[in-house]
Amino acid sequence: MIAIGCDHGGFEMKQAVMKHLEARGEEYRDFGTFSPASCDYPDFAKPVAHAVADGSCDRGILICGTGIGVSITANKVPGIRAALCGDCFSAEATRLHNDANVLALGARVVGEGLALKIVDTFLDTPFSNDERHMRRISKIEGD
Ligand code: RB5
Repeated sequence: MIAIGCDHGGFEMKQAVMKHLEARGEEYRDFGTFSPASCDYPDFAKPVAHAVADGSCDRGILICGTGIGVSITANKVPGIRAALCGDCFSAEATRLHNDANVLALGARVVGEGLALKIVDTFLDTPFSNDERHMRRISKIEGD
């Protein structure tokens, strides 16, 4: 199950991403926003991050104008490794190296075609399970 959320800046792109997830046969839960009216990105990024952190969803996708606000917000939630990606190389690397569990996209930064390729890369790339990457990830939330 994929948790998806956005603010007004990401509303249109979220519609496209949900359509794409449906075409891929992916189950998702839409945490809003549900209209293009101006709103506050933490109100949607936090519930998505909590759904991933508590295990009710496997991965999250968050979209705002830049992707920055939603990624900063999501990364405040323990257990969340949100990656703001504007290219497929980063999306692949963050799955392989960081085991990122939330993808953040900037709808005013990347076009829809690239965003959907980034989503595919993020969803289709497994974590490497390499010892060095596991060690580094384990240090993220330690002191
Ligand atoms: C909204 O105008 C914009 O600030 C928001 O979508 C996002 O880019 C914040 O980081």
